Amino acid sequence: MRRTINWAGDAIEIIDQRALPGVYRTLRLSTIDELIDAIRTLAVRGAPALGAAGALGVALSALIHDGDENAVRADAKRIADARPTAVNLSWGVRRALAFLPDGHELVLAGAMALLDEDERVNRKASERAAEFVLDRCGRRPLRLLTHCNAGRLATVGWGTALGVVWHLRAAGHLDHVFADETRPLLQGARLTAWELAEAGVPYRLLPDSAAASAIARDLVDCVVVGADRIAANGDVANKVGTYPLALAAARHRVPFVVVAPMSTVDPEIPDGGGIVIEERPAGEVTEFAGHRVAPANAAVFNPAFDVTPAELITAIVTEEGFYPFG
Ligand code: MRU
Repeated sequence: MRRTINWAGDAIEIIDQRALPGVYRTLRLSTIDELIDAIRTLAVRGAPALGAAGALGVALSALIHDGDENAVRADAKRIADARPTAVNLSWGVRRALAFLPDGHELVLAGAMALLDEDERVNRKASERAAEFVLDRCGRRPLRLLTHCNAGRLATVGWGTALGVVWHLRAAGHLDHVFADETRPLLQGARLTAWELAEAGVPYRLLPDSAAASAIARDLVDCVVVGADRIAANGDVANKVGTYPLALAAARHRVPFVVVAPMSTVDPEIPDGGGIVIEERPAGEVTEFAGHRVAPANAAVFNPAFDVTPAELITAIVTEEGFYPFG
């Protein structure tokens, strides 16, 4: 299966997630400006995929500015700043920058190693999470609810929350998946539904506002989501709408499980209060599918993420075990 993001000779190749599910196309990004535009407009998105974009971005810059370390470091800063919330982006940039003194070929080799590792660790974290879910909910066909897209499109290849779906399905323990549509950019309706359909997994799409009542009506065995940044104390930033899901799950005693690679843990931030939440353009809310739906000059609050406090989370599952450790 094609990677969400990869190196293609002298450029970065991505699946253009803005065009899905209607059109499946790839884009070649051969300048840093093109990469930054792709990140900001969510052509490439999802925390682990952004880590890969950061690392490959440094490799591209090192190729363009061969031998000019200052120019590469300036590009690296611009890439890391392209979106603020997912810590993986700056982590990927830093990982690749460490190879800069060794020349552009080794920067690229380091970035490619990160891509391989991403798939490996997400498989491991999601397998561990699937076992946890089965222990908690019982070895029977389960009904999972997920938010946003934490599948192969959000990573290099496998997925985190949807990785749990792939494992449960292979083990014969999946009934179906509830996929939140995920307003306002519809990553659930456009991307998660596309991935589930492609894999032949039964799913039901629901408005975000219907999720709490689905949980209250006992239609959901477990909520499984990804993460964009995990603070040292286990508070989790993820796509806006995750926190209300955690509240509903806690109220109805439904397990709420976060699956993420360790690269999403930010030990520098003690708790969720320190996580910078990206604010997105007003047009994402005042328009729907390109048509204006709100009055002219409507004031808008459009945070792309929210923070779920650690106390509402049943488990944060990483490739290394349950976070926080010990
Ligand atoms: O704005 P996006 O689409 O980049 O937000 C993505 C999410 O919130 C995902 O849930 C998160 O990155 C985890 S992806 C494995």
